[in-house]
Amino acid sequence: MASPPLLSLTSLFILLLSFASPSHCFYPINSEIHSSKKVNLTLYYESLCPSCKAFVTSMQSSVFDNGIINIVNLRLVPWGNAIIDDHGEIQCQHGPKECELNFVEGCIIHTYPDPKKHFGYINCIEKLDESGDWTSCFPHSRSLKQVKDCCGSNLAEKIANGYYEETEHLKPPHDYVPWVTVNSQPLKEDFGNFIDYVCKAYKGKSPPACKSHKSTEKIAVKNPVYQVCYTGDKQHSTLATDAKKSRASANVRG
Ligand SMILES: *[C@@H]1O[C@H](CO)[C@@H](O)[C@H](O)[C@H]1NC(C)=O
Repeated sequence: MASPPLLSLTSLFILLLSFASPSHCFYPINSEIHSSKKVNLTLYYESLCPSCKAFVTSMQSSVFDNGIINIVNLRLVPWGNAIIDDHGEIQCQHGPKECELNFVEGCIIHTYPDPKKHFGYINCIEKLDESGDWTSCFPHSRSLKQVKDCCGSNLAEKIANGYYEETEHLKPPHDYVPWVTVNSQPLKEDFGNFIDYVCKAYKGKSPPACKSHKSTEKIAVKNPVYQVCYTGDKQHSTLATDAKKSRASANVRG
């Protein structure tokens, strides 16, 4: 009586074996995932804002190197807290240089719509210090020319206007940048944990990056150097929660 169930167990085991190769073999790391299944991950930001620089440059490892890019529709929206004044002029929080870089980055995104193509340039620009020259991020004169042509034309302004409209119509409105949304929901001060939200929102088989994610990005929010840029501020300031905390502890001590 023992052999029939044993036999069927054995065949079941063999059947299972034939399907059960390590799960990462099934995960289509490089194949295209239908974009409707992907999670919309949008970053509203502005150049020259320290926390935006930190966030953008951290995305190389947190989004691109680990394959998260394959499960998101990543959109970068370089406008941030810029405003259009009564004369119809764009005023940027960190002055004309910020406006220039926002335009350049808008033109890069327009020229190379695929994030895997445009992110490299934008990452390079965001890594530059204040005196840095953005054209140094273009090793090939052809791509540099394309972007320069865009920047020197009405197109740059048209692109920027689109970003303005989109940022202006955020619901709820943004309080500061970087402002990260996952499927249109703002993560607010939890933006450093965006991977958690992306992985939760993703309906497909979760990629290895979701399982191995150790919330290293949390450092970004806790680090007091990681300053956000508030709407209406002339300059960047520390995240409200940090400021409140330090005020509270100062009161306790004092
Ligand atoms: C993602 O964005 C696209 C394009 O804007 C939209 O059509 C789609 O409904 C969004 N998906 C989710 C889950 O919000």
